[in-house]
Amino acid sequence: MNPADIQALVARGFGSLDGARYVLLRVEDAGAAREWLRGLGVTTLAEAQARRLPRVRQVAFTAAGLCALDLPVDTIPGFAPEFLDGLAGDPSRSRRLGDIEDSAPALWRWGAGDAEPHVLLILLAEGGDIEAHLAETLAAMPAGACSVLLVNAASGPVGREPFGFVDGISQPEVDWEGTVEPGGAKDRLYRDRIALGEFLLGHDNEYGFVPDHPVEGGIGHNGTYLVYRQLEQDVAGFWGWAARTAGAGGAVAFAERMVGRGIDGDPLPALGGEGVNGFTFASDPDGAICPIGAHIRRANPRSGDDPRGRRGFLGDVVSSLGLKGSAMHDAVASARFHRLLRRGRPYGSAPDPQAAIAGITSEEPRGLHFICLNASLARQFEFVQGSWLASPYFGGLSGEQDPMLGNRCPVSGGMQTDAFAYHDAAGNPRLAAGLPRFVTVVGGAYFFLPGIGGLARILRG
Ligand code: HEM
Repeated sequence: MNPADIQALVARGFGSLDGARYVLLRVEDAGAAREWLRGLGVTTLAEAQARRLPRVRQVAFTAAGLCALDLPVDTIPGFAPEFLDGLAGDPSRSRRLGDIEDSAPALWRWGAGDAEPHVLLILLAEGGDIEAHLAETLAAMPAGACSVLLVNAASGPVGREPFGFVDGISQPEVDWEGTVEPGGAKDRLYRDRIALGEFLLGHDNEYGFVPDHPVEGGIGHNGTYLVYRQLEQDVAGFWGWAARTAGAGGAVAFAERMVGRGIDGDPLPALGGEGVNGFTFASDPDGAICPIGAHIRRANPRSGDDPRGRRGFLGDVVSSLGLKGSAMHDAVASARFHRLLRRGRPYGSAPDPQAAIAGITSEEPRGLHFICLNASLARQFEFVQGSWLASPYFGGLSGEQDPMLGNRCPVSGGMQTDAFAYHDAAGNPRLAAGLPRFVTVVGGAYFFLPGIGGLARILRG
């Protein structure tokens, strides 16, 4: 692992830099764009390890962008088919990810058709400096090299997302030193330390091998895939519905069950474990504490390779042979193959939930610039989004999707997806029905975030 060959974002969220701009560009003149990008000064992990950086620049490309830079990606073996298709490139993908009706790519502000970006620049700096950082970066671009499609601004570092919940708490612990030997009996239990190859191409992953990636000219080595989705949040709708369902006094506790954490980020009481992240759902198989369909339980069910954990040699053998347990026990896949490094930031002001419950909220657009990094778009992001968050079948549930993110569209055959099963404060099972849509996708794309050597290869032309 060579930190001088890795873009810093892979290892750092740069939470202390509270200014962020996501610059979406289209290449107009390949030669001029390559020359400009060669001198951009992309921040490496080695630089971030050496000192506290006041400014950060990262760069990533869509498949269309690599082509526009004269790198015909479909002739280079090893790029993931999902990347080549693009986030908005296939109606069946859009359906699986829940990007239909109001969230359909045809309605997006950016990401589809002529509004598909080629290049993403991520600029980070302190709030007072971010506009200067943006202006200086763009001023260095020769006229006619690229056109600016959009500059998206984040409202600050990861802190509270626009519904008011503390965000950015749980991340996989990346195994930079390669200490994990995946696949042993210990993996019957959940673990948070995840093989480097799940997040960086060219390294061993959770199957113990280096997955397919573009090797020609070192283009893929130390690169990763970056998913960017702009998710607009209906803050008034969310808190209004929580208050109508649970009463003004019970709205926060009810919303905490939808998210699966306390509003200040604490695990729901009685889950056990240490600190804010040292818990699993093993002690809560029926979702009496944290509903099975809660956002954090769908996004990371904290499951091991064996749904019932480790039960000694004989018990493990019996379970491996599939002789005990019901289909329900296999309803959730092992989490270690489906982890994401989240690097997004919110936009719009953070609301006061009590004011929102009382119906006092601003009309400004608010949401999340959701960004995550993963080595396999299909097995990580698309699986989490499509099979866990957006699916009406999860963990033995049916007729529900993620209570925050679901599009609530009935699925084929007419099954509704707008319910949410939870236990109230007195421990009684409840079913809320008719959840409205609180989150709408308004843009997005799949990018390749290369290593520094890979970037040089891309920009060689
Ligand atoms: C508007 C959209 C979203 C909001 C408001 C939101 C909010 C939150 C909150 C409040 C948490 C708990 C704090 C934490 O552990 O960091 C969380 C956790 C998480 N979210 Fe989201 N999220 C959104 C979209 C997504 C999407 C699209 C994905 C994945 C495709 C996702 C994946 C995760 C994951 C993996 C966790 C950590 C779960 C764990 O390990 O416990 N989220 N989110």
